[in-house]
Amino acid sequence: MQVVHNIADLQAVLAGASLRAFVPTMGNLHQGHLDLIQMARQQVDARAKSGGKTVASIFVNRLQFAPHEDFDAYPRTLENDCALLEANGCDVVFAPAEKDLYPEPQVFKVHPPTEVADILEGEFRPGFFVGVSTVVHKLFNIVQPNLAVFGKKDYQQLMVIRRMVTQMALPIDILGGETRRAADGLALSSRNGYLSESERLEAVQLSWALKTLAAAAREGSANGHLDVPALEAAAMQSLKERGWQPDYLTVRLQHDLSPINGPCQQPMVVLGAAKLGKTRLIDNLEV
Ligand code: PAJ
Repeated sequence: MQVVHNIADLQAVLAGASLRAFVPTMGNLHQGHLDLIQMARQQVDARAKSGGKTVASIFVNRLQFAPHEDFDAYPRTLENDCALLEANGCDVVFAPAEKDLYPEPQVFKVHPPTEVADILEGEFRPGFFVGVSTVVHKLFNIVQPNLAVFGKKDYQQLMVIRRMVTQMALPIDILGGETRRAADGLALSSRNGYLSESERLEAVQLSWALKTLAAAAREGSANGHLDVPALEAAAMQSLKERGWQPDYLTVRLQHDLSPINGPCQQPMVVLGAAKLGKTRLIDNLEV
């Protein structure tokens, strides 16, 4: 595995690669990230006879953090990340310094449309999807991948990237990897490391609240009585009573994350974001 830190070195290492499969990350890798690398590896092995490469990027992207968020505190564990990547089939790690990716202030940005970028995560983290879309578009230009793998853990992010790739006619297949969970059901996240021991035990309740909400949405759609606002309010209340500060727990259409008004035969997804102490966690479940 080769580890490179600037664009010129990356392009030299990738020159002549017959297929490039890309997994962008912010590092501090866990099994969820490694699942995506393994998916990328399988795609390369299946699609390219030889000369294909899997590429992971590690870059904590300042553009997607609001000033009050955890950019400085975000864990940086490059050495350990590289060992994990190597053991999971990664060929090339691109870990640029900030001055390499943003040598000057990034004033040209990708602005996803308000109906996907200003709802849910975008409502509570204004500018987040501008920061994500801009860095992912830039990384796509640098890496020139044939395919890229993103996790369903960040469901809205995956949708925004798919829309961007379609609208900008980028010749990149976007694959979605399932959410990897700890044994108790908590979705793995680099931010789980911020939790105290007692918060870690409580943290699984977010996924349980979503499971309850998903079951109610399924049942309501089956029997023709689905009061989504009432179900959402009950789910929010159940977490509040346990000491959480929920931003949203909601039932949406899978394809565009638009709200649902009554019984629904289209694929649905429940999504939630809530703070436990100082740590903000997100999760979702397809219904
Ligand atoms: P990061 O949070 O490091 O996540 C990198 C990729 O891993 C994303 O596609 C994310 O959805 C996926 N992922 C995280 N936790 C997962 C889990 N438990 N199971 C499966 N996949 C999981 O998402 C970002 O970085 C950034 O926004 C980025 C796309 C790199 C742009 O800066």
